[in-house]
Amino acid sequence: MIQVEDMIKKRVDMIPQKDFEILLKRTHMPKLHWEASIDKIPDLPYKLTVLKYLGSIKERMVEGQGLLLHGPYSSGKSAIAAICLKTALLLQFPKIGLWIKAKALPDYIINKTRFDDAFTMYSRAKSVPLLVIDEIQLRKNLGYTENMAEDLIRERIDKQLATIITTNHSLSTIRDEYPALYEILQEGVLPLKIEGCNFRQEKRINSEEW
Ligand SMILES: Nc1ncnc2c1ncn2[C@@H]1O[C@H](COP(=O)(O)OP(=O)(O)O)[C@@H](O)[C@H]1O
Ligand SMILES: [Mg+2]
Repeated sequence: MIQVEDMIKKRVDMIPQKDFEILLKRTHMPKLHWEASIDKIPDLPYKLTVLKYLGSIKERMVEGQGLLLHGPYSSGKSAIAAICLKTALLLQFPKIGLWIKAKALPDYIINKTRFDDAFTMYSRAKSVPLLVIDEIQLRKNLGYTENMAEDLIRERIDKQLATIITTNHSLSTIRDEYPALYEILQEGVLPLKIEGCNFRQEKRINSEEW
């Protein structure tokens, strides 16, 4: 799996930092995640699955296979989604991906927020080869936002487009309480539990040492 990391590092070196930042900006990935790196993922079993996914990301995208990164708050889910999107950019840049926060979806749809002259954010979200939907939160009675996210995921899975989703819900909660969504997800995303490290707590301890 070292090869995956080497391959990514080589690609990073090939693209001038400034150019890569322009690509990252275009994906709408929050700046906070631009620095997310494989090295910082702790050596827990899920890391191997992440590396496998990264190593075959081109094929995954052709087949429309995404990830459902689930687990507790601050475990590094969004960072892993960012690493996947960055890797896809490096391999097939430039028009590969988009990042949206699940809770921004209603605003994008209602206000027809533009991505650029040709696309709205929503039309881009429906058609881009790799989409990250960050922080899907579900409530018992699916509200507006959740339905929109569900519709978007369904449409993308139908079109065989890869979607990476992050959520604090456990897989069993999704399975038991949102069976329709669970069914859809099974067709196009690999569930992966991200647990065992609390990044924000670690940051806090570090700052206390100062
Ligand atoms: N692989 C990583 N590389 C760099 N920083 C990371 C990584 N994983 C987590 N972090 C840091 O920890 C913070 C919390 O991780 P995040 O991915 O946002 O957690 P989650 O999405 O599970 O709540 C991030 O803002 C980032 O600063
Ligand atoms: Mg997150």
